[in-house]
Amino acid sequence: MKVIMAESYEDMSRRVAEIIASQISCKPKSVLGFATGSTPCGSYGELIRMYNEGKISFEDIIAFNLDEYCGLDGNDMESYHYFMKKNLFEFVNIQEKNIHIPNGRCKDIENECINYEKKIEEAGSIDLQLLGIGENGHIGFNEPDVKFEAHTHLVTLEEKTLKANSKFFNSYEEVPKTAISMGIKTIMNAKKILLLGSGEKKAEVLNKMIYGEITPNLPASILQLHSDVSIIVDKEAGKLLKKQV
Ligand code: F6R
Repeated sequence: MKVIMAESYEDMSRRVAEIIASQISCKPKSVLGFATGSTPCGSYGELIRMYNEGKISFEDIIAFNLDEYCGLDGNDMESYHYFMKKNLFEFVNIQEKNIHIPNGRCKDIENECINYEKKIEEAGSIDLQLLGIGENGHIGFNEPDVKFEAHTHLVTLEEKTLKANSKFFNSYEEVPKTAISMGIKTIMNAKKILLLGSGEKKAEVLNKMIYGEITPNLPASILQLHSDVSIIVDKEAGKLLKKQV
């Protein structure tokens, strides 16, 4: 694992955007795995800036998002469909047909998960997967006690996650209790992984994830076994980390 210490959230966002831009430049038809949440917002802002300056094009990239809440429609402001639209997709030249996010309103969840996995496979697997990390060690919505062998699946969210994510809703009660998430196996199949961490709240979990035991109780710890993982943190999130692992 490579650990990159950024000076600040802005510096982290710039570096993440540069890595994504270089991936797109080397391979314009890249398959990119996107994340939602607070952490990647700055990086998406930087990507939009680079796009506006004519430095990158999203025309041929294929996007797969990590997860979506069950029960939310793409037009719901709290859905991850809406999040991606408003934080990135609406502002760049990505083609609608190349955007993939699990359908939280599907009638048959099992079928949706199988199809999602099939689409990733057909696209030729993910070239670069962006990840955030939950305070409980989740990646995507793979909560502690996850099955490492799981592909895209239905997950039940932990109270800690519901509380953390209630910042995006009017109240805690409104946060959906279940979601469809890429599984650990799906994430581990990505060729490159870029995990972002920002803020003091993430310092302890990042330390455990990198130097601690590999255990389903801390889902992100499995990334120790991936051959190409970069972790980019700001000063607060990285305060317990050594520079290189
Ligand atoms: C988002 C996702 C989650 C978040 C994590 C951190 O698609 O799958 O794993 O990356 O919960 O969220 P923030 O960035 O809001 O702290």
